Amino acid sequence: MNFTKRILVTGGAGFIGSHLLRLMVEKYPQYQLINGDALTYAGNLENLSDIESAPNYVFEKLDITNAAQVGVIFSKYACTDVIHLAAESHVDRSIENPLAFLTTNIIGTGVLLNQCRQSWNDDKSHLFYHVSTDEVYGSLGETGYFTESTSYDPRSPYSASKASSDHLVRAYYHTFQLPIVISNCSNNYGPNQFPEKLIPLMINNILHEKALPVYGDGTNVRDWLWVGDHASAIDTIFHNGELGETYNVGGDNEMKNIDLVKMLCKLVDKKLGRAEGTSEKTIRFVEDRKGHDHRYAIDASKIKHDLNWTPAVFPIEGFEKTVDWYLENTKWLNNVTSGDYQEYYKKHYT
Ligand code: NAD
Ligand code: TYD
Repeated sequence: MNFTKRILVTGGAGFIGSHLLRLMVEKYPQYQLINGDALTYAGNLENLSDIESAPNYVFEKLDITNAAQVGVIFSKYACTDVIHLAAESHVDRSIENPLAFLTTNIIGTGVLLNQCRQSWNDDKSHLFYHVSTDEVYGSLGETGYFTESTSYDPRSPYSASKASSDHLVRAYYHTFQLPIVISNCSNNYGPNQFPEKLIPLMINNILHEKALPVYGDGTNVRDWLWVGDHASAIDTIFHNGELGETYNVGGDNEMKNIDLVKMLCKLVDKKLGRAEGTSEKTIRFVEDRKGHDHRYAIDASKIKHDLNWTPAVFPIEGFEKTVDWYLENTKWLNNVTSGDYQEYYKKHYT
């Protein structure tokens, strides 16, 4: 089949990438979607089992830090576009092993940019789309929002590596006129998120009646966005975003960690028929994360006004759908928490 675009989606076996791929594979039969993923602990092809035999989907095991491998994929598929999500993504791991983050997030992004520049010459019909995070902007006090012009002030090895990769992407735009776009999004939640991040970790621990580790005093604030809404924002920006521009994506849904954890306790207890208050008793305030950013909050008015995107899923509906998914997919949870993860988990949470 002659596909009109052949899009390399890096990190497609991860949390957000798998939701994006499902959306695009189903919505755009005229595009070929190439999932290039190294399948680290965070990548799982089970996330994509429902689309694996779609005629416009293909998986390629790919390490983005390996220029030769990236070159092979570009020659094999003549990729017209890249949507770049592959990354080391967990802040706690970046505190433990910063170099892995520098390698994947900075060098990996550089390798991809170089390949695009080589393959696309000066043709502006292509697009390199970098999916990034609001954490590059640093930490807010009780008021204010990150806008696209907020100065970068990353404070963890993770956010510093993502900030570096954003800068590299912009440098390729300004120096070589590579066609690029960037989005910086707030915290995502939903099915298939690896249970080291706050929401799935808490659901998993509540389910197994384990202690619920809340860092510090639990007053840190995050803005939570349903992962499907992030996927629809990426789809919108990919098709309608202006070259060289940045778009902030957020859920208008700020919550203190402690309130979120208590809400999850209530939801899971109710679904499992446990007495109200059962799981809240297992909340433990533990030593704070090093350099813990206090608050993230997004001003998403640019994407709303310029591209007509808005989140579609109400938080209460999204949180309930998320809890339902984890309770119905204990096999997935058991699979991803076996092996290497057990060691990490034991070290941190027991
Ligand atoms: P994830 O950790 O669930 O998935 C990352 C994927 O990248 C995995 O499938 C992994 O196998 C793959 N990968 C890692 N190293 C690789 C390499 N060297 N080569 C190829 N593939 C590799 O991450 P996620 O939560 O889905 O995040 C995806 C992207 O979105 C990341 O770039 C992240 O910085 C960004 N982001 C995430 C959030 C969030 O809340 N999760 C918010 C904003 C932005
Ligand atoms: P996380 O899901 O790691 O996302 P990020 O740090 O990238 O925002 O953490 C979300 C918030 O939850 C953050 O303020 C740290 C806190 N947190 C805990 O209190 N306990 C935990 O076990 C984890 C993983 C996170």
